[in-house]
Amino acid sequence: MTRKRLIAGNWKMHGSFAESRQLVAALRDGVGAEDRALMLLCPPYVYLNAVRDWLQGSNIALGAQDLSDRSGTGAFTGEVSGAMLRDLGCTHVIVGHSERRALYDESDAVVASKFKAAQQAGLIPVLCVGETLEQREAGHTQATVQRQVAAVIDAAGVAAFGKAVIAYEPVWAIGTGRTATPEQAEEVHALIRAMIAERDATIASGLPILYGGSVKGANARSLFAMKDIDGGLVGGASLVATEFLEIFRAGI
Ligand code: PGA
Repeated sequence: MTRKRLIAGNWKMHGSFAESRQLVAALRDGVGAEDRALMLLCPPYVYLNAVRDWLQGSNIALGAQDLSDRSGTGAFTGEVSGAMLRDLGCTHVIVGHSERRALYDESDAVVASKFKAAQQAGLIPVLCVGETLEQREAGHTQATVQRQVAAVIDAAGVAAFGKAVIAYEPVWAIGTGRTATPEQAEEVHALIRAMIAERDATIASGLPILYGGSVKGANARSLFAMKDIDGGLVGGASLVATEFLEIFRAGI
């Protein structure tokens, strides 16, 4: 099965209103009607509404970086629900980014709840998994990634992966300039796909699995050439239009 590539930009807590507008304008100029790949922007919550307006009429999709694990409405000060994100035109939402797991203590169970909340709201969750440097050096890469993926399969069921994306992001490669080699990444991507295939081969063959961690214009093409790498989740390089467009072009 040919899977459409997804090139997602995770802006994290970066950029001002004016900078966001400039970045979106430059990206719009560089993205035409591509069949092979979809560009997705995940700005901070407060800019979602503006970015949605600036993207009108383009082929670029909008997503959020996180969401509440609660569905519906309620007294949850500071939280943003999946339904609100959907209301603003988001199609995707990142869940379980390693920064959320490490800095905000999000457990596998919380990540699984967010994944389910996203789907209940009609959003496509981009589930992030990946090992730390210590886990890799201790030979625990496989076990870590399997545990993170299994927690969501157990909670949501394998069928839920028919409308989801997984992003493999080795923590040691995020923001460090130290990218996994295409072979290192492919090994884990293939493992993830095999895990899903054990339960449902059709869902596994349609599941987009992105690589994240210091993706740049210079290394994107070799990563995307691997059989099980279907695009990228890009942090730092997604804030620089020329760089992000180069990555996008590597995907088309
Ligand atoms: P990076 O971040 O591209 O800056 O390494 C990727 C991510 O955290 O999603």
